[in-house]
Amino acid sequence: MLKTRIAVLVSGGGTNLQALLDAQSRGEIPSGEIVLVVSNNEDAYALTRASNAGVKTAVVSRKVHGEQFEAVLLETLQQAEIDLIILAGFMCILSKEFTTSFADRIINVHPSLIPSFCGKGFYGLRVHEAALEYGVKVTGATVHYVNEIPDGGAIILQKAVEIQEGDTPQILQKRVMKQAEWKLLPKAAEMVSKKLLLGE
Ligand code: GRF
Repeated sequence: MLKTRIAVLVSGGGTNLQALLDAQSRGEIPSGEIVLVVSNNEDAYALTRASNAGVKTAVVSRKVHGEQFEAVLLETLQQAEIDLIILAGFMCILSKEFTTSFADRIINVHPSLIPSFCGKGFYGLRVHEAALEYGVKVTGATVHYVNEIPDGGAIILQKAVEIQEGDTPQILQKRVMKQAEWKLLPKAAEMVSKKLLLGE
């Protein structure tokens, strides 16, 4: 295997996907290649970002596939000979059966310093609302391995981001993305791709 074959799973806007694609085009992910983007939502703008970058796309949704959702997802990934799955704003919780079939080969980015403000119900703006409500002075982002526990897998990378006077959840979300998520995810993609290439 010359490069780790990467699939990025998305549901929405895809700014983290964009950060990965941009890093790849700058040569910052030499050990891996993004060969597929899968969305569970056919309207996700992330699909347009993938097409613009010449990356193959697929839509696999619970709406269409119902109970077969994970089986179809797995087959789509296996057919593309995917080695590493990156969850970048993918709004579906994956079962234990699925995560164990890709053990240590699924990573996710979460917009807080785990174990704060994470787990079930902590997604999107809710994470930043909770950080502001609590009054923490520092938050950040975490890239971690994915297991069946939401945000519960081993931590790979973290980066702190300061909270500023007058922050709203929206302002904070943007700062955490810009200062942490968009930097950490490509870095982790390269680290884990390299590790898989070396068979570690
Ligand atoms: C990001 O905040 C990410 O941490 C979370 O979902 C959001 C996705 O945003 N898991 P985008 O689609 O990458 O713009």
